[in-house]
Amino acid sequence: MEKMEGKNQTLITEFILLGFGDVGDLQPLLFLLFLVIYIVTASGNTLIIALIVTDQHLQIPMYYLLGNLSCLETCLSSVLLPRLLASLLTGDRTISVNGCMVQFYFFAIMSTTESLLLTAMSYDRYLAICNPLHYPVLMNGRVCCQLAAGSWLSSLTTCSVGMVLTIRHTFCDSKEMDHFFCDFAPLIKLACEDTQILQLATFVIATLWTFVPCILTLTSYGFIISTILKIPSSIGRKKAFSTCSSHLIMLAVFYVTVITVYVAPTGNSSKLLNKIFSVFYTVLTPLLNPIVYCLRNKEINESLKKAVRKLLDLRDKP
Ligand SMILES: *[C@@H]1O[C@H](CO)[C@@H](O)[C@H](O)[C@H]1NC(C)=O
Repeated sequence: MEKMEGKNQTLITEFILLGFGDVGDLQPLLFLLFLVIYIVTASGNTLIIALIVTDQHLQIPMYYLLGNLSCLETCLSSVLLPRLLASLLTGDRTISVNGCMVQFYFFAIMSTTESLLLTAMSYDRYLAICNPLHYPVLMNGRVCCQLAAGSWLSSLTTCSVGMVLTIRHTFCDSKEMDHFFCDFAPLIKLACEDTQILQLATFVIATLWTFVPCILTLTSYGFIISTILKIPSSIGRKKAFSTCSSHLIMLAVFYVTVITVYVAPTGNSSKLLNKIFSVFYTVLTPLLNPIVYCLRNKEINESLKKAVRKLLDLRDKP
């Protein structure tokens, strides 16, 4: 096998994920912080899924898609956080090359599906607000199922292709990966061979699966906002806006942080900043999703209150 010049010849079987660097005394604090984030994310998203599955009022396409998003975000944080928590707790920051590949593979699938599902959700809102008369025909259980399945399957396929290309590489030079999970850019920096083809392939995949959904989402919201502005009564405007405001907040958080991570300069000084924004879009978006929906979405909020009342009634009965 040909090695690139200037790289160390020893093959690497495990990496060291540097995480947030040597935080010293802050380590227990970081552990607690991420533990709380993980518990709230997992239980909040599970709560949303439970409400959607059990409440008849929520069995409509908009909430099916939200249920899928919650399911995805529980999985996403379970791919990233337990590993981070373990290393913060034990101080052991090594991860095997295979473990790293698995983490990267699942992370790639989840984040691609996330942007596709967010697009499907904006399309649903676009139909509901801009085309209300035809909404029941254009968006029904079957279409919604196709959108959800399409999001999962297409990201599974593309990420598997990317993975097949990535897994052929061996790693040398350095074990140290300056990140808190196995992401593509830090991983590929450590490859022994020339990675140009791989980088080109992933660039095409990433462009296709990030920019296209982003543009479709923006277009949907362009139409939605112009339709809402045309509604003559302010009560009608408020009502139309209230059905999409939670989703709009989630979109803003997701895209602003993703764009900041990938567009922000990657000089040494902004490395820490970059990591902080990575935390935002990988860890905080899943955390915010249930919070925003439980607090701002009227139907979820009502359903939650009903469920709590039921639980209290059960408890009060002997
Ligand atoms: C995901 O979407 C499918 C298709 O619409 C739906 O049948 C399923 O219930 C959704 N899953 C959740 C957890 O809401």
